[in-house]
Amino acid sequence: MKKSLFIVFEGLDGSGKTTQMNALYKHLTKEKNIKCRQEREPGESLPGALARSAVKKKTKFEPQTMALLFAADRYEHIVNDIQPYLDEGVHVLCDRYVFSNFAYQGLELDFETIYEVNKAAMELLMPDVIIFIDTDPAETLARIGKSRVGNELFDKQGVAVRENFYKAFDYLKEKNLIKNLLTVKGSQSEEAVTSEIISYIERLY
Ligand code: TYD
Repeated sequence: MKKSLFIVFEGLDGSGKTTQMNALYKHLTKEKNIKCRQEREPGESLPGALARSAVKKKTKFEPQTMALLFAADRYEHIVNDIQPYLDEGVHVLCDRYVFSNFAYQGLELDFETIYEVNKAAMELLMPDVIIFIDTDPAETLARIGKSRVGNELFDKQGVAVRENFYKAFDYLKEKNLIKNLLTVKGSQSEEAVTSEIISYIERLY
């Protein structure tokens, strides 16, 4: 691989994206000896913490404010934790990115609004690769575990969120903002999903 890649994982909560991101990280670092970093959104910034607390239903914001908080967190994240590593030749793998803003905040806001809110972040950085782990919302809800179901803001909206992911990919493809998108069926075995992801990344370079 020549240049450092920014690889984003997207999917519903419980889709296995974190597990798959860890597997790719392990493959790249241990087997290929490639320098990598793992990141996630919402991140550790103050706006990110506020957004996270609203997701956990500890506080409440207007939909527009939620979009702004996630986008502000993203901007901080790019400038402080992602771009500096890419510049040094380190690959960055990120659990969620701007597509989650379209999928989740898109439940209540139109895509044009979300696009405007995230424009500054998207102008700074869009991923080289998006890996979307597509799962059946009913199955993912079961995977999250009965104890959590209903505890988080978006737990019961999986069907609409999944649809929004697809709509967002189309919307951003039309704007030429998407380069490489891999959609993987999350219903396969964990190993099958991992090997599909690895061969896709290896084919790219
Ligand atoms: P999640 O990946 O579940 O983090 P954690 O594992 O720490 O709980 O993300 C938290 C939630 O935030 C998830 O339900 C999706 C939501 N989210 C948005 O609504 N908009 C966004 O822009 C992002 C990045 C996440």
